[in-house]
Amino acid sequence: MANLRIAVLGVGNIGGSLGKRWIAAGHQVAFGVANPETSAKAQALTADVGEKATITSVAQAITDADVVVFAIPGKAMDETIAVNADALTGKLVIDVANRVGEPVFNSYATFQRLAPTAQYARAFNTLGWENFVDSTFSGGPADMFYVSADGSQPTVETLISDVGYRPVRLGAGDQADLVDALLRLWFTLSRTYGRRLAFKIVTP
Ligand SMILES: NC(=O)c1ccc[n+]([C@@H]2O[C@H](COP(=O)([O-])OP(=O)(O)OC[C@H]3O[C@@H](n4cnc5c(N)ncnc54)[C@H](OP(=O)(O)O)[C@@H]3O)[C@@H](O)[C@H]2O)c1
Repeated sequence: MANLRIAVLGVGNIGGSLGKRWIAAGHQVAFGVANPETSAKAQALTADVGEKATITSVAQAITDADVVVFAIPGKAMDETIAVNADALTGKLVIDVANRVGEPVFNSYATFQRLAPTAQYARAFNTLGWENFVDSTFSGGPADMFYVSADGSQPTVETLISDVGYRPVRLGAGDQADLVDALLRLWFTLSRTYGRRLAFKIVTP
């Protein structure tokens, strides 16, 4: 697949880790942040990757992108989707944000309500960010379970493969809760096994 233009909203643990992997894979990544000039996290990322990263406003990053990755706090999702709803028309959106403390962790319903033509995907939210900085595991590549709108699989699977995982599709966006069940499992297991932990299907 040709290189993609990716908007990564948020330059924190998860946005920074994923964005750096996609830059390394040759994609064009623009990080969208609320305050591009003053964000300490944005400045730290620029110091790290230099001119390979573009840091811009959320609106500009979305406008220029083929794929928009939401790596911002769950509580910022509704407003960010509402403000940028028009610009999200027809775009592939990957919801990595977890609405921790709310009954539903994903933002599928908000996208359906405010940006219904966006092609929704839920991926990368089930593992701690450390597993995207280093995705090597004993026993080979781990599986990344995801959902995405029909037709968007090739792009989503490219982005999953580019961070070192084998993509496993669980259905379309309306199955996002199934992905989130694995997030709950990851939280529970990481208390025993630590945060460098991922999942893998094994068959005879
Ligand atoms: N940490 C993990 O291991 C992990 C794993 C999977 C999923 N997630 C999910 O990923 C999301 C980000 O987590 P994180 O650990 O990366 O958080 P983080 O390190 O605190 O980074 C959050 C980023 O979002 C930006 N941000 C905050 N509010 C924003 C807004 N309204 N508009 C645009 N940007 C905004 C912050 O910018 P400023 O710093 O400039 O304010 C920062 O760059 C959360 O929803 C989390 O649940 C996290």
